[in-house]
Amino acid sequence: MPVAALLGLQWGDEGKGKCTDYLASGFDIVVRCQGGANAGHSVEAGENNMITHLLPAAVLQKQVELVIGNGVVIDLWEIIKEINEAENLSPGIKERIKISKNSHIVLPFHKYLDQKQEENRKDSLIGTTGRGIGPCYSDKALRIGIRAGLLFYESVLTDFFSKFCDQHEISSKDKDYNTAYLLGAISEVSPLLIDSQNYLNRAFKEGKKILLEGAQGALLDIDHGTYPYVTSSNTTIGGLISGSGLSPFSLDRVIGLVKAYTTRVGEGPFPTEDDGISGQRMRATGREFGATTGRPRKCGWLDLVAVKHAIEINGVTEIILTKVDVLSQFEKIYVAVKYSCKGEEISYFPTLSEELLEAKPVYIELEGWEQEIRKTSNRNKLPANFSKYLDFIEEYLDTPIALVSYGPKREEMIIF
Ligand code: IMP
Repeated sequence: MPVAALLGLQWGDEGKGKCTDYLASGFDIVVRCQGGANAGHSVEAGENNMITHLLPAAVLQKQVELVIGNGVVIDLWEIIKEINEAENLSPGIKERIKISKNSHIVLPFHKYLDQKQEENRKDSLIGTTGRGIGPCYSDKALRIGIRAGLLFYESVLTDFFSKFCDQHEISSKDKDYNTAYLLGAISEVSPLLIDSQNYLNRAFKEGKKILLEGAQGALLDIDHGTYPYVTSSNTTIGGLISGSGLSPFSLDRVIGLVKAYTTRVGEGPFPTEDDGISGQRMRATGREFGATTGRPRKCGWLDLVAVKHAIEINGVTEIILTKVDVLSQFEKIYVAVKYSCKGEEISYFPTLSEELLEAKPVYIELEGWEQEIRKTSNRNKLPANFSKYLDFIEEYLDTPIALVSYGPKREEMIIF
């Protein structure tokens, strides 16, 4: 059975939690492939709700296996806390959780370094989440990172960690603290560790249905995003493939999530940012505050130039359009279709942040629908202006919209 990938096409926060939860009922295994506890995926079903930072956001689906892949960086005590929270909502879930031995461990030291580096940037902040993501991936690339599988080999782990401390000139007090963090987690985490690449490839051959859940969004990708205002992993399709160990040929669907407007948290260029009344209304209605940090998100109109860039890189086969209800309040809707750059109109996304900072959006104006969106599977029964808005997006992106989400609840979803 084929594999599907679900990923964000903007700067994250497109509603991946809800969509993963919604789609997961049709899958046997859901895999987190990259990033770490910088993500915050909200799921809500009936009375139950949870924000997952590391676990795949399928915690409320009873039959699904949850795998944390090799590309993820794991804060051990965060995952223990999350598993306990999930266990309260869904007793027995621990039996369904597996963690890759090749995932890397985020130490308290990495979080300290992340925050210190951010402080030192002074007026050129990235606005990281402070979760130690950049420093952990740096150590992975330097080949001094600590993989979760070493929790099976306490003496090797201690030895490796000593060298790590020497390399980073960590004081003996901090070394003791980080050692206690590592060793204290062994009994809880090591029973969950597996050779995830092997496990997933076996499952694929047995015909299991696998969903790869992306974290963050394409414009935060370390290669294709607005560098250096990005996260430290590949958030696009390549990151999901290398972070799971499945072959690119196993992929059948690439589902791209697009929020009906745009948000960004942290620093960096954002051509359609609206810091006036429209942006404020989007933030208030869309509850646009970070699920991980609580920071208010910057808001603005939908930027189709940026989304098209993300569609190309990911090979998106279908779109889920989210949070359309937030736009129901506007008389007019604006969509960026080009940029004006140094007096010239361009219709591609410049990935050099310095260029993008100079890009001014060229909008087209569409009529708002100004009424509540209700469930229907018949596109003709949607408000006419909303239907035109969907047509416009599909035509511009040359990609079908398969689902529309109009609220945080699982059932608030229109399927075409
Ligand atoms: P880091 O991933 O904590 O290093 O943060 C780097 C940039 O990515 C910052 O601008 C963060 O705000 C942003 N970022 C990281 N994770 C997320 C996310 O899950 N949603 C939205 N932005 C994120």
